[in-house]
Amino acid sequence: MADVEHLRSLLKAHPDFPKKGIVFLDIFPILRDPVAFESLITHFVYHLTSHTIPHSPSKKVDVVVALDARGFLLGPVIAMRLGAAFVPVRKKGKLPGECVTATYKKEYGSDSFEMQADAIQPGQNVVIIDDLIATGGSAKAAGQLVSQLGGKVIEYLFIIELLFLKGAQRLDAPVYSMVKTD
Ligand code: ADE
Repeated sequence: MADVEHLRSLLKAHPDFPKKGIVFLDIFPILRDPVAFESLITHFVYHLTSHTIPHSPSKKVDVVVALDARGFLLGPVIAMRLGAAFVPVRKKGKLPGECVTATYKKEYGSDSFEMQADAIQPGQNVVIIDDLIATGGSAKAAGQLVSQLGGKVIEYLFIIELLFLKGAQRLDAPVYSMVKTD
């Protein structure tokens, strides 16, 4: 837990960014510190692989899906450590080949996400990761993309959960967030 408190202390709050009334929580100070970044990644890998800690999914992860853009800083590293596939969810129009699409609203604005149609095989166990869950709209859309391809979302993972927006309640699989804040 000492590690989590240290990681939490590195998060930086930026009031009124990107617009008035939003307190933006910045994860980049963690990535600037290689020891902290290593400890963050190990925290998630331990959560996903240990069968002794409460609420661990205790299933083999086949695919790590991460959300454009800050999820991409975490997903590939965690996937590589797990020996799992990494699959990106990107904003519409960025991925080549046949794609599935889902639209979502976010804390500020709205957008569409896509995933390559051959990226997930039916029945595969998938975890979805992003830096932060706000309203849960983008994570929910990512879950819909996984379901459209026949994958099973076994857990959603976040560094930070904004509890007051109740995003976790909109998701159809367990949510693990390292830091919860109001
Ligand atoms: N994404 C949506 N809301 C956010 C916030 N408050 N801080 C950082 N990223 C966000």
